[in-house]
Amino acid sequence: MSLIESTVHDGLVFPPPADLAARAEVSGMDAYQALIAEAARDYEGFWARLARETVTWRKPFSTTLDETNAPFYKWFEDGELNASYNCLDRHVEAGNGERIAVIFEADDGTVTHVTYRDLLQRVCRLANALRRRGLKKGDRVVIYMPMSIEGIVAMQACARIGATHSVVFGGFSSKSLNERMVDVGATALITCDEQMRGGKALPLKSIADEALAAGGCAAVSSVIVYRRTGGEVQWNPKRDMWLHEITECEADICEPEWVGAEHPLFILYTSGSTGTPKGVQHSTGGFLLWAAQTMKWTFDWKPSDVFWCTADIGWITGHSYIAYGPTAIGATQVVFEGVPTYPNAGRFWNMIARHKVTTFYTAPTAIRSLIKVSDADPSVHPKSFDLSTLRIIGTVGEPINPAAWMWYHEHVGGGRCPVIDTWWQTETGGHMITPLPGVTSLVPGSCTLPLPGILAVVVDETGHDVPNGQGGILVIKRPWPSMIRTVWGDPARFKKGYFPDDLGGKLYLAGDGAIRDKETGYFTITGRIDDVLNVSGHRLGTMEIESALVANAMVAEAAVVGRSDETTGEVVVAFVVLKGPRPEGAAAEKIANELRAWVGKEIGPIAKPKEIRFGENLPKTRSGKIMRRLLRSLAAGEEITQDVSTLENPAILGQLR
Ligand code: WT7
Repeated sequence: MSLIESTVHDGLVFPPPADLAARAEVSGMDAYQALIAEAARDYEGFWARLARETVTWRKPFSTTLDETNAPFYKWFEDGELNASYNCLDRHVEAGNGERIAVIFEADDGTVTHVTYRDLLQRVCRLANALRRRGLKKGDRVVIYMPMSIEGIVAMQACARIGATHSVVFGGFSSKSLNERMVDVGATALITCDEQMRGGKALPLKSIADEALAAGGCAAVSSVIVYRRTGGEVQWNPKRDMWLHEITECEADICEPEWVGAEHPLFILYTSGSTGTPKGVQHSTGGFLLWAAQTMKWTFDWKPSDVFWCTADIGWITGHSYIAYGPTAIGATQVVFEGVPTYPNAGRFWNMIARHKVTTFYTAPTAIRSLIKVSDADPSVHPKSFDLSTLRIIGTVGEPINPAAWMWYHEHVGGGRCPVIDTWWQTETGGHMITPLPGVTSLVPGSCTLPLPGILAVVVDETGHDVPNGQGGILVIKRPWPSMIRTVWGDPARFKKGYFPDDLGGKLYLAGDGAIRDKETGYFTITGRIDDVLNVSGHRLGTMEIESALVANAMVAEAAVVGRSDETTGEVVVAFVVLKGPRPEGAAAEKIANELRAWVGKEIGPIAKPKEIRFGENLPKTRSGKIMRRLLRSLAAGEEITQDVSTLENPAILGQLR
């Protein structure tokens, strides 16, 4: 709270640039308010209008929202469409086939341009090849690919034939990949020989081989391999096939599979408060509508724009704002294979200058790490590059602290580009609370106001509204088209986790805390209220990491908490009790390293604990409950001010401090 009040007080409010506002898709506060009023007057009519204007339907829908089986809401249910048709064919049919869809820059700097016509052709060829292998509507295809044109083509090709894709981030381990393939019931896997990042090759195919061998994957009968590096791979001729070989002989035309609006376009796994990740299931119609609509509203997309979202297709941001949103509106976008620090920390700025990027969307962690480096080395500082083409810059994935916001605004945005701090989640499918570049006066550290049609509010534990200025739980009051439909294979978990009875069963629980400014009503996100960490914008479940740790033969017990970190937002701190004696000194360091590597193998390198502390026990109440609050204070190195009288074993604190 004090943050917003003090920034407002200090005059740190940035009104929208007048010229941008004048030409913006949503131009000025009155236009925004008019949209809000339209949604308030006729909620369904509002969404129906957008869905008709933004999406091309094969068969128009006659009902907008079906609430009969709430919270399993249905949108535009009897409408039929195809996502890939919307993202590709309709632009070619409109005469925009020669427009550049993707400017792909490889890790080593090689640039490839792909037009909408090219992209459609590639998607059709792969879609035909998938059909030839018996894949059809409703089948699940796992995609384990690096950032690549082929990755986008794979997603679109699945959409074209009505297969539901599930992309697994290339940084996940073979075990994580195996679990996801099993849970989703995959019958095909699309992967790559090796991934190139920062000049290093990472063997995706061999990780995939391990995952396939780990059991439960007998149904995966086709493994399609994109040859990226030509590095050596193991080959199972019964199952493995090269992408370039199977697409070579296919036709350039592929009739899309027209699907109902509720047909699952994709399932994307994300972490929650239990030990197992959940498959967030998204629809076709509602998802596509919001991915496209938010491109127009939040990014104020214009045909002359060059859009660049630096996310990976393995996360929701890469689904909504690389694979589907930009293509759905016919945008030209940069797709980048590599990392921001290779060959040096000026890579982002250098690429913005070379590709004349107008709209740049990245994570606060990336900004914070680049601030550090460019403070020490002026040659990689954004001011050493011509960033004058930029007009809108955005952030996503975690809170952005005001200092990083100011640096981004000044040095990347040249003081003239609105900083669009977008709050949303895997489950929401697209932006929810965000400034609009031609509308909103910005306050660093606040994601400002909900988009039209999104009824975000802050409530207490019983689901009642709290007044502005008072912290609480962030909820969404009404269903919206791009919302999660269910947790794949576990509808009870969906209902319990997102529409809990404690809150009355009708409010969507985001899992974040929030507070609204007294005067402006602006939202500031105060962080997760559940056992979910946010490390570099990546969502990690503490329980998942704990399960991974206790799966190690040395470990008796483990508790994982987050500690705030200047660069990555949070880091993972693990408190571990070994089966043997408590190790000290060099022995402790050695075991800690082994356990870190173990977690990397079990989940993926992103989940490795930064710090591991050993104790003979964990601080517990007399009923045996681990006192996590206490562990968080210990991890942060804070003085213990909590009441420890309920603690069974106070002596343990000394060991863990
Ligand atoms: C969680 C969702 C949004 C796509 C990428 C991450 C946090 C996200 C913001 C923001 C503060 C944010 C929340 C949210 N988060 N954006 N602008 N300000 N926090 O998607 O992995 O589903 O994570 O990321 O805690 O719940 P995700």
